[in-house]
This record gives sequence, C-alpha cells and structure tokens, in this order.
Amino acid sequence: MEAAFSRSACWSMSEFSLRPARPGDLPAIIGLWRELQDINAAFDSRLTLNSEAANWFVNYLEEQLDNTSAAVVVAEQEECVVGYTFGQVMRRPTLLSGDCGYIADICVQSEARGQGIGRSLHGWLRAWFVAQGITAVEVQVVRANPASQAFWRKMGYNDFLRTLRSES
Ligand SMILES: CC(C)(COP(=O)(O)OP(=O)(O)OC[C@H]1O[C@@H](n2cnc3c(N)ncnc32)[C@H](O)[C@@H]1OP(=O)(O)O)[C@@H](O)C(=O)NCCC(=O)NCCS
Repeated sequence: MEAAFSRSACWSMSEFSLRPARPGDLPAIIGLWRELQDINAAFDSRLTLNSEAANWFVNYLEEQLDNTSAAVVVAEQEECVVGYTFGQVMRRPTLLSGDCGYIADICVQSEARGQGIGRSLHGWLRAWFVAQGITAVEVQVVRANPASQAFWRKMGYNDFLRTLRSES
C-alpha cells in the first residue's frame, strides 16, 4: 500500500514557528520529502525513487521521532507544516575530530520559500547538534542542483569529501 502523504493546503507570508515533529506530521513531511526527491531526480535521474521508497521512509522516519540521536523539525505557518529538516549524529570513533552531525533532508514547500524558513530550520538543527556536543555538520548535496548548492554555501558549508561513482 502506498504511504499516505499530503501537501499543505494553506501557506502564507505570515510568521512561522518551528517545533520537533510529531507522529501526526508524518503525512505532511512525506509530501515534502517526495517534493525534494522529485526535484533531485529531475536534476539526476539516478536519484529516481523506487516504488517501495515512500513506505520505507515513512517507517524509518517514524522510528527517528523516538531516536535520541536524531532530530526531525517542522516549520509551521498557520498550523500547516510548510517545511522540515532531519538530522542525525554520526559516530566517528576513529577520527580525532570525533562525531559529527549529518543533515539528511531539508525541504520548504515551494510557495513558502524565500522567507527565511530554510535558514531557521538549519539554525534549529545546528543548535540541537551543539546541545549534543557536536560542532561539525555535513550534508550531501546533489551536484546538479544549483539552488541546493547555493543554499548550503550560504549556510557556511564548503567542499570536504567527494563521492566518486562508477557504473558499468
Ligand atoms: C533549499 C531550501 C530548503 C531553501 O529554503 P528557503 O526557505 O527558501 O531558504 P531561505 O529563505 O531561508 O534562504 C536562506 C539563504 O539561502 C539562499 N537561497 C535559498 N534558496 C536559494 C536559491 N534557489 N538560489 C540561491 N540562493 C538561495 C537565500 O538567498 C538566503 O540567503 P540570504 O539569507 O543571505 O539572503 C528550499 O529552496 C527547498 O526546499 N528547495 C527544494 C529542496 C532542496 O533542494 N533541498 C536541499 C537539498 S537537501
């Protein structure tokens, strides 16, 4: 069965607020997650989701709501979820630099972009990482997605590791 998801029916230029996600937010988050995946797949078809992806992700995300090493945050405008981000602590026991944060996803509903919601979601997650004793944070960015590249560089991220891939 296809995972339930919803697209917020309302949006506005009104104030927004942030809070940790609750189980009732999952359909709205899945809607945003699909929007994010579709954007990335349009830039690089190798990122196209398979038919099981949404069901897998909704179960995985539900588990993350109770995971003390992860944070799922939503942005609300007029009680509608218009953005979310999801980050996790990555254990790196062998590196002198130690554990780091990893931001798996961030997406703001298209109509709500450009109001500072993405910056605020990122700021919330960075503060949460700091509260866990984590000061370095990583994110994987689709090379072909210029908006994503620009956003992350504005947030202060620079090149670090590079993923190489071979297909035969
Ligand atoms: C990337 C995204 C999360 C930004 O959210 P947003 O709420 O529109 O961003 P903000 O309004 O908080 O902008 C923060 C900064 O990023 C910059 N920025 C945001 N989108 C940008 C774009 N498309 N092109 C260039 N710069 C951009 C803004 O100029 C702003 O900088 P400033 O504060 O110095 O002016 C949002 O565009 C989005 O959800 N995109 C689709 C999904 C995606 O690509 N996610 C990232 C991949 S993980």
